[in-house]
Amino acid sequence: HDKKRLVINLLDWYDEHARVLPWREEATPYRVWVSEIMLQQTRVEAVKPYFERFLKAFPSISSLANAKDDELSKVWEGLGYYNRVKNMKKCAQMCMELYDGKLPSTYEQLLQLPGIGSYTAGAVASIAFKEKAAAVDGNVLRVFSRLLVSEDDILKESTKKKFQKIILDYIPEERCDAFNQALMEIGALVCAPNAAPRCNICPLAQDCIGYQNGKAHYLPIKKAK
Ligand code: ADE
Repeated sequence: HDKKRLVINLLDWYDEHARVLPWREEATPYRVWVSEIMLQQTRVEAVKPYFERFLKAFPSISSLANAKDDELSKVWEGLGYYNRVKNMKKCAQMCMELYDGKLPSTYEQLLQLPGIGSYTAGAVASIAFKEKAAAVDGNVLRVFSRLLVSEDDILKESTKKKFQKIILDYIPEERCDAFNQALMEIGALVCAPNAAPRCNICPLAQDCIGYQNGKAHYLPIKKAK
């Protein structure tokens, strides 16, 4: 499989097919962070109206840091996983104290903040700050398991770490933001979960070892627990 060709095909496809999403139109660190937290457990279509409402209610890190808990829960109501927004407020408060009211700009600093794990740190660092960092979520694990015919259990932390390393080697310096979002987009629109990958329309098919071997549809492997 040809890495360079794969990346070019992925980015060309993304330029043509990327959905227009509010956090892509204006990718400020705050907007990217809010969207990535919301998108962790909630689908894109469900997130959109919450995202707009949240940004109206809390347009900045300082407004979020000073938010009243009942206002926060009102704006978050229906999204679930309420811990997410509790951590966001804590995170905003730490940004006020430590970073002059801004999100810090590197993967390593982001990773230290409440509610920000390796996925979110990678997404914010790459999309908002153009740092060459991987952003490995379930979608990306599925896409890469198929691309490489990996039978590693994607529910294991060690598998995620392994793929973070592997993927770093694919990320193009100039377009790390588009690269990470393109992988998520392929995972959402083409390389669908379960036995439903749409390999016939996939721009990566010629470099997908899973597809070439007829194994894409039963990957990834999910076992842990
Ligand atoms: N899922 C997680 N992050 C996303 C993003 N930036 N765009 C679309 N879907 C996503």
